[in-house]
Amino acid sequence: MNSKIRYIILLQTLTLLVCIPLFAQQNDKVETLLKQMTLEEKVGQMAQVTVDSLMDINTWQLKDSMLQKGIVDYKIGSVLNTWDNVAHSKEDWCALVKKLQSFTKKTRLKIPLIYGVDAIHGATYTEKATLFPQEIAMAATFNRSLVHRGAEICAYETRTGSLPWTFSPVLDLGIDARWPRLWETFGEDPYLASAMATEMTKGYQGTDANNIDKYHVAACAKHYLGYSVPVSGKDRTPAIISENVLREYHLPSFQAAVEAGISSVMVNSSLINGIPVHSSHYLLTDLLKKELGFKGVVVTDWMDIENLYKRDHLAVSSKDAVRLAVNAGIDVAMIPYNFRFCDNLIALVKEGAVPMTRIDDAVRRILEMKMKLNLFNQPFDKTEDYPLFGSKEFEQASYKAASEAITLLKNKNNILPLAKNKKVLVCGPNANSMRTLDGGWSYSWQGDKTEKFTEQYNTILKAIQNEIGKNNVSYVSGVSYVEGGKYWEEKETGIQEAVVKASDVDYVVLCLGENSYTEKTGDLQDLSLSDLQIKLATDLAATGKPVILVLNEGRPRIISKFEANMAATVLVYLPGNFGGDALADILFGDVNPSGKLPVTYPRYSNSLINYWHKYSEEQDKAEGMYNYESDYSPQYEFGSGLSYTTFKYSDLKFSKNEITANENLQVSVTVTNTGKVAGKEAVLLYLSDLYASLAPDMKRLKGFDKINLQPGESKTVEFTLTKKELSFVNIDNKTIAEPGEFEVKIGDQKARFMLK
Ligand code: BGC
Repeated sequence: MNSKIRYIILLQTLTLLVCIPLFAQQNDKVETLLKQMTLEEKVGQMAQVTVDSLMDINTWQLKDSMLQKGIVDYKIGSVLNTWDNVAHSKEDWCALVKKLQSFTKKTRLKIPLIYGVDAIHGATYTEKATLFPQEIAMAATFNRSLVHRGAEICAYETRTGSLPWTFSPVLDLGIDARWPRLWETFGEDPYLASAMATEMTKGYQGTDANNIDKYHVAACAKHYLGYSVPVSGKDRTPAIISENVLREYHLPSFQAAVEAGISSVMVNSSLINGIPVHSSHYLLTDLLKKELGFKGVVVTDWMDIENLYKRDHLAVSSKDAVRLAVNAGIDVAMIPYNFRFCDNLIALVKEGAVPMTRIDDAVRRILEMKMKLNLFNQPFDKTEDYPLFGSKEFEQASYKAASEAITLLKNKNNILPLAKNKKVLVCGPNANSMRTLDGGWSYSWQGDKTEKFTEQYNTILKAIQNEIGKNNVSYVSGVSYVEGGKYWEEKETGIQEAVVKASDVDYVVLCLGENSYTEKTGDLQDLSLSDLQIKLATDLAATGKPVILVLNEGRPRIISKFEANMAATVLVYLPGNFGGDALADILFGDVNPSGKLPVTYPRYSNSLINYWHKYSEEQDKAEGMYNYESDYSPQYEFGSGLSYTTFKYSDLKFSKNEITANENLQVSVTVTNTGKVAGKEAVLLYLSDLYASLAPDMKRLKGFDKINLQPGESKTVEFTLTKKELSFVNIDNKTIAEPGEFEVKIGDQKARFMLK
């Protein structure tokens, strides 16, 4: 054993020696507290209200009478959300939390509140916080360390406002392009989502999930389980999912977060196979708490206990809804506007309809979360302890993430990068908007107030002007989003003018996509890009000037009507406050693009098929009269993404050609930069189980790594395939690895091995 390893082992042992007693002390304290608590105090801990409900909504000041009622009389344990649906200064946040906590001092046991917010790509509701690219873009980086660092910074800045709990990450699979929350996910692949779930959880919570220090926050994996695949594509509508599908695709990312020690899980607001997940004892208790061993807090989504009665007609009254949800395994109710939950739950326990053991289990989990955040000793934070808030260092991390996310999907005749001395027309509804770069959950729920907070950042237009000088840039929007309108409302603002201007320039940078939206508001009737945007694109293409299409959108909108006429296509997703700068650097060659698609980009609205489909989606012409065939032709495949350099893959090798299920297989491949500029490459390993008892997917991502190569440089990338990667969930819902042949594909390299 060398001295370095010995040193690491010593350090780990010391950490354990310090942490285990601390953890045991925390447990003792929780048990002592629990023994002292009355039923009312316990139920209060399970209640969470929105801060608005504790305020005078004319002045947006906390109202003492409401604080008395909520915190002292009802003994609520938790508060969420911003007030007045807008971002506030870090100082105002700290003052607010301090005041809330001061009211807990008036309670018998003085248990601190825990405050939760949706800090999902940075501290959403804190002015001047560093907003990162949204999750879908973070996934496109295929870079674990960027995701980790982004979460770390988000945690730090969230704590700057004294907020210790974030409702992030979203671990639903972004499978259906119609679904309005696709951009909140890590995309369509379970392996990628799981890897990023681990990084984001650790980034948020720090190295010790049982002792979260003041620079980290408790994270919340949401929305457990199967939320992202409603049959209709509309948010919060029913899904039909078989158990083996649920376990094969939807469960792994949540399992990864649980294994990484995530503190809380938020529940799917909708129904699976007719059962609202908030009432599912099987999903919440049997699967999550027992089978996966989740020890943290299960929190409802907004108003979702009430929804069991009012929306889903499953419960016969609000009280019955509380009974169903709490017995199913809910620990915290995001009520969020009244205290009926408390009255109902107290009555239910007294009647014997909810056992006290269930209440104790919930409260134990809640107290443990507060304890591990050290809230009993430090119920609020001080802004001055966070000097790095909004620093250049943090901004750089956000910029870096954006520059590794942006995905070059098409580059006809290597038109990109553009020369800096050429004339460019910038147009489109997304060209001069910070709102569209940031997307939803930015400064307000819908992201509709973003412009007020983002003057210091560069829209795409401003960034291009900075890059090549104002004199080289002209701008016509052509089409605009209607201010104050629905997210999809647009108006014509000079298509003809744009066409005329195009004749004076060398290139057109056309910025299309979507306006910001969040959740149900973003429901969609037509996946195609709007008629007005298509007209703008078509008319500009007809001028004969090369059009560089920039797509700034939360989900892949259909572009097949005009894409063939575009000279290049660059997908920026929702890249955050530095997305404009990162894009300009890529367009003009300061940065070499390296993002890859974490979703399939469909070509047609009726062909929404993921990359991990079954063989029947890609049938060759059959023989004979019934010569069925099926045509799989997405606009761009999962994993697509070009570079300004070229990479050659070679020497795909295995440690063995035959393994048993308990042996690991080492896989290596060499990647060489064969072009003229340095570049980063996400190396993706796909595995195909060639024959299986449940028709296998054609291929599945089972490994990835991002490397940086200078021109002429080669690197060998290594992967380990274990039983886990070789397994699938069979028809009996068991995870198994079946003997047989497997194929590994990395780049253009392929090789097979046998599992005995
Ligand atoms: C969303 C959740 C969010 C919660 C609290 C709900 O409407 O579905 O993702 O965490 O509100 O803001």
